[in-house]
Amino acid sequence: FNTSPSSSCVQVSQYACQRRTPLQDINQIFTDAFEILAENCEFLGNKELCKSFLRASAVLKSLRFPIATMKDLDGLPLLGNEMKTIIEEILEDGKCARVLDVINGERYKSFKLFTSIFGVGLKTSEKWFRMGFRTLEEIKNNPEFKFTKMQKYGFLHYEDITSYISKSEALEIYDFVRDIILKLVPDAVVTLTGGFRRGKERGHDVDIIITCPRKEKEKSILHNTITILKNQGLILFYDINESTFVETKLPSKKVDALDHFQKCFIIFKLVKEGVGATNIKDNEMESKNWKAVRVDFVITPYKQYAYALLGWTGSRQFERDLRRYATNEKKMMLDNHGLFDKTKNVFLDAYTEEDIFEHLGLEYLEPWDRNA
Ligand code: CTP
Ligand code: MN
Ligand code: MN
Ligand code: MN
Repeated sequence: FNTSPSSSCVQVSQYACQRRTPLQDINQIFTDAFEILAENCEFLGNKELCKSFLRASAVLKSLRFPIATMKDLDGLPLLGNEMKTIIEEILEDGKCARVLDVINGERYKSFKLFTSIFGVGLKTSEKWFRMGFRTLEEIKNNPEFKFTKMQKYGFLHYEDITSYISKSEALEIYDFVRDIILKLVPDAVVTLTGGFRRGKERGHDVDIIITCPRKEKEKSILHNTITILKNQGLILFYDINESTFVETKLPSKKVDALDHFQKCFIIFKLVKEGVGATNIKDNEMESKNWKAVRVDFVITPYKQYAYALLGWTGSRQFERDLRRYATNEKKMMLDNHGLFDKTKNVFLDAYTEEDIFEHLGLEYLEPWDRNA
């Protein structure tokens, strides 16, 4: 079949939930640029422009052809003059001055560094930046600082946590955890979600979602699982957030609102079999035979599971567009807990992701086509 732009007569939707976005991004030279600019806007608190860059990037990610000339942009949504200027510059020079300015800028570099620490967000980064700090050493060695427990462990395992997790490492942890949970609750449903469910080969954490079809039986799973993992010495850090979910509450209007399910943010000790032994024999410095890996657990009631799974599978931009589509095109409210039809004034039940797409009048998209 023909993949040239001129042959595609089908209109590209402005919503990622109406486009297929596989992992392979043939317009990465442009989408990388837009994502750096978006991130810089986020660091500056410019939410609107951040959104525009991310939407433009997502449109390009869904294309089956590489942008080769400005003509290729004809008919594409969400690519205004500001976006086109950037694309044009990259087409001509292979780079964009505005992007280079950003990545060489003090603010962007500092925020990138600070937010890479587990437990440090925009607020803390802003504070440290204003105080004049620019490196991790300056912060780590400052006796004046009071760090949260999360940040302390973030510093302690910084190297491991900021290095990538492979799919095989993610699957190893997932299989291990699922076995423990199924011994506790044989009919529990344990699913690897997040980027790995979308087919990514590497990620920055392992997201695992857990439920049980028997009512309330999911409630004991998290604490019992953590106890077992702790007893095996496999938990370096954990932080449990108890559920604040209320079934009657309407879905959130904010596209980036966090959900209220019980969850746990973990630094897991992944022990690598056979590593370390040879070095000791050779009388070299003893190497560490384990790696600190970020793992997220989220536990949901069975009734909300499909919505939570859809929400935690991502990508973030895909989720934003799903919610925007529900609100603007369907007069419905969607979040990780459910879908509310404002016309009929009812919550719509769903037990699979397919059910949710159907409620929204959308063609079903597999997780690997949600890489917006
Ligand atoms: N998410 C969420 N609530 C949170 C954290 C995450 O709903 N408290 C959702 C996000 O919308 C995201 C998905 O869970 O789409 C996965 O989040 P995250 O692990 O941050 O990103 P990944 O896509 O898995 O990519 P990475 O490899 O960076 O982890
Ligand atoms: Mn993830
Ligand atoms: Mn992430
Ligand atoms: Mn996560």
